[in-house]
Amino acid sequence: MAELHVLNHPLLQHKLSIIRCKDTTVKEFREIVSEIATLMSYEATRDLPMEEVEIETPVATSKFKRLAGKKLAIVPILRAGLGMVDGILQLIPSAKVGHIGLYRDPETLEPVEYYCKLPKDIAERDILLVDPMLATGGSATAAIKFLKSHGGTHIKLMCILAAPEGIERVKNDHPDVDIYVAAVDERLNEHGYIVPGLGDAGDRIFGTK
Ligand code: PRP
Ligand code: URA
Repeated sequence: MAELHVLNHPLLQHKLSIIRCKDTTVKEFREIVSEIATLMSYEATRDLPMEEVEIETPVATSKFKRLAGKKLAIVPILRAGLGMVDGILQLIPSAKVGHIGLYRDPETLEPVEYYCKLPKDIAERDILLVDPMLATGGSATAAIKFLKSHGGTHIKLMCILAAPEGIERVKNDHPDVDIYVAAVDERLNEHGYIVPGLGDAGDRIFGTK
């Protein structure tokens, strides 16, 4: 069964409060989304497999742990997910990056696909699917379905902010996918926006409104 991880670290909560504010500039918003992504990926990679290796320090030889070298892929949902990629790559610089282009039809709120490109060996990789917003859950569910249709099996979904509706949708449709969020807000409004939320993440990252 999918697990929901609400990452309520004080640094995350502080940064999230800054990007919620309507007066935060595009520059600041973009920088902080990236910082939040770094902090969240630190938590979301807690269970990466380790292996023991022998290392000679200047003082003695002993056994130590290092990452077992499991391959990772970061997959942002375009556009807004792009704002999280560099922050994650700061911690996991050798990860490959795929892209899933979806936008939400403003009338139906259904996701519309416009571009997808994944690493060839996606089936062998642990996948971190990222998008700042999990609202109705339509975009995340469609993206997970797409990843699975390309052989993806170990998928984690990492979103900064979620609505209860989106979490339920992903849990129901993809019970094998763990979800990592920094906060779960109250509800969706009649336009499918998270309340109180932070507005349109894509527009705020790219300055398009
Ligand atoms: C936003 C957001 C998610 C989606 C969430 O993208 O970044 O992808 O909405 O909504 P849902 O859970 O109801 O599907 P949007 O469609 O606005 O596209 P953009 O990133 O290009 O701005
Ligand atoms: N997409 C956004 O960018 N913000 C919301 O509140 C909901 C969907």
